[in-house]
Amino acid sequence: MNIQTGHFGHSADHEKVDLYTLTNNDGLQIKITNYGGTVLSILTPDRNGNFDQVTLGFDNLKQYIETSPYFGCLVGRYANRIANGKFKLNGIEYALAQNNGDHHLHGGQKGFDKVVWQARKFSGKGEMGLALTYQSQDGEENYPGTLDVSVVYTLNNDNALKIEYFATTDQRTVLNLTNHTYFNLAGTGDILGHELTLNADRFTPTNHTLIPTGELRSVTGTPMDFTTAAIIGHRIEQDDEQLYFAGGYDHNWIINKSDDALVLAATVFEPSSGRLLETYTTQPGIQFYSGNFLDGAAVGPDGRIYHKRTGFCLETQHFPDSPNQPHFPSTMLKPGDQYSQTTIYKFSSRQ
Ligand code: GLA
Repeated sequence: MNIQTGHFGHSADHEKVDLYTLTNNDGLQIKITNYGGTVLSILTPDRNGNFDQVTLGFDNLKQYIETSPYFGCLVGRYANRIANGKFKLNGIEYALAQNNGDHHLHGGQKGFDKVVWQARKFSGKGEMGLALTYQSQDGEENYPGTLDVSVVYTLNNDNALKIEYFATTDQRTVLNLTNHTYFNLAGTGDILGHELTLNADRFTPTNHTLIPTGELRSVTGTPMDFTTAAIIGHRIEQDDEQLYFAGGYDHNWIINKSDDALVLAATVFEPSSGRLLETYTTQPGIQFYSGNFLDGAAVGPDGRIYHKRTGFCLETQHFPDSPNQPHFPSTMLKPGDQYSQTTIYKFSSRQ
């Protein structure tokens, strides 16, 4: 296994950006840049040992800076939406960028996906990785508190990519970190034939602007029921208010768990290639997004056009708009607290 470092260009603020290529003993290869802590590509074998890109992305920094629909990046400070960009802490109201209609999305104008992280490579027995750190200043994107964040990507020889998130703050703040990789396990075409299983009996329904209503609703009898494997495309066009609001799947499922243990949250199987992706997480929620907003504007290497539903995301997270929903698991971080979350994407194949 090895990690290679290359130059990837400069950010808009003229900071030097690098590209790291991690290759394990199986030949599984992951490219990560310290611009946005972004996973550019993941190359994995199918059931016959043929390698394909199983993610959506670009091969140059310019496209990430100018047009990326959050391909592969780290998302913060608050992944997903905060209603009207407003929340209160200690009686003080904070007003964040309203960059998604009236709402705040994915950390604002210049979220963690658009900053340059400090990177350090490491390797150990049977694994290697990249440790990324970033200090977000008090008031950055109008969030309170100076926040020290680190994200550690580790690839092992069992074809698992582990992402660990750590943070501390010097003032009360809110935090919800995730990674926004779009997967397509066939390496081509749309994702409607993939089979999805979610370890979730409930989800958080939204209003028509994708803000949770506050209800924790059972999936039983709805197109949101992935408690047993279901083909993503089978029910996506059903006459269902939740699907209609989001233009497909773009919802937070409540993972069946009671504490912060690492559990299997999602399994995706792609029948033609035999590729299997398992997602484990310590987080309470997972946003399954079926790439509804992809519109063909983004074009990848080799002219691959990223049309609607050519990729899906499994964004492990706290629930959207938690700062305004007191009965959702808390996203508050206090001085002295250590924020710590882990997500693992494990790749394999079967018949
Ligand atoms: C998340 C959101 C979607 C969309 C994408 C980025 O998955 O839930 O609504 O904003 O990010 O396009």
